[in-house]
Amino acid sequence: MNKTILITGASSGIGRATALLFQEKGWNVIATMRTPEKESELKSLDNVLVNKLDVLEIDTIKSSLKEGIEKFGKIDVVLNNAGYALMGTFESAKRESIIRQFGVNVQGLFDVTQEVLPHFRANKEGMFINISSIGGKMTFPLMPLYHSTKWAVEGFSESLRWEMAQIGVKVKLVEPGGVATDFGGRSLDMQHNPELTEYNEFVGAFTKAMQASMDPSNMSKAEQIAEVIYTAATDGKDTLRYRAGADAKQLLAARSNMSDEEFFTMQEQQFGL
Ligand SMILES: NC(=O)c1ccc[n+]([C@@H]2O[C@H](COP(=O)([O-])OP(=O)(O)OC[C@H]3O[C@@H](n4cnc5c(N)ncnc54)[C@H](OP(=O)(O)O)[C@@H]3O)[C@@H](O)[C@H]2O)c1
Repeated sequence: MNKTILITGASSGIGRATALLFQEKGWNVIATMRTPEKESELKSLDNVLVNKLDVLEIDTIKSSLKEGIEKFGKIDVVLNNAGYALMGTFESAKRESIIRQFGVNVQGLFDVTQEVLPHFRANKEGMFINISSIGGKMTFPLMPLYHSTKWAVEGFSESLRWEMAQIGVKVKLVEPGGVATDFGGRSLDMQHNPELTEYNEFVGAFTKAMQASMDPSNMSKAEQIAEVIYTAATDGKDTLRYRAGADAKQLLAARSNMSDEEFFTMQEQQFGL
């Protein structure tokens, strides 16, 4: 019997590339998204079920899972991928935006995980692959809120793996570096109030340096991250963390060999701060 993966945020970027790769490899794919009515390509493929799942709406999590299990009989892997970045000065961030950032990147991931668990526990097997980031292990300026969501996903996943082992379930983390997707475009929520003039020079300098460093041709492609996710799903190992992309491997290795002070100096030099 084909294995089945459920993916959140499959409308674009890493989630979409992963849906296409697993389908090509002969898996059943439950490609979930907020607006399935806009999707056509994935709907045209064999063994792909496209349905609605907004991680902020628990009813859509329940209905998506129910429909997926009815169609394919069983879910083997859940890819918790849906996410976006709230960026900017912390003092400018609206409270409702902070709640939304944690709602999508953290509470949404918790809700999907809790709703799937009875199914995995009954099957005595299953796997969660949670999309973290290099930003779950190190930081860049003006992203304290996004980073704190990914650090939360890291801590959650690392601790959860012990209890999951009791029921035959695996937990894995995939940590991409920069990936050329909609993440830095339509998915980015940038908030800075220029009336907070003390920050303006810093925000201007960092934003300029960041944009200059974000050349899509130097970034990983979503398809490369999908390959790492496929390895995590199929390698039969108990490995927790998978660094995804050349930059992720290089930056995380460098960070783990540095003191905090050395790391701050490196980032300040990199971004001309
Ligand atoms: N790109 C990078 O450089 C990078 C690096 C490290 C980690 N990541 C992580 O990779 C994951 C995927 O991002 P991406 O790069 O593929 O960006 P993307 O192309 O912008 O994809 C983000 C996906 O999340 C979905 N999403 C947003 N809010 C949602 C909600 N409430 N419920 C369900 N889905 C929701 C989006 O759906 P809509 O189409 O409906 O908006 C979209 O499918 C994120 O967790 C991100 O933090 C990205």
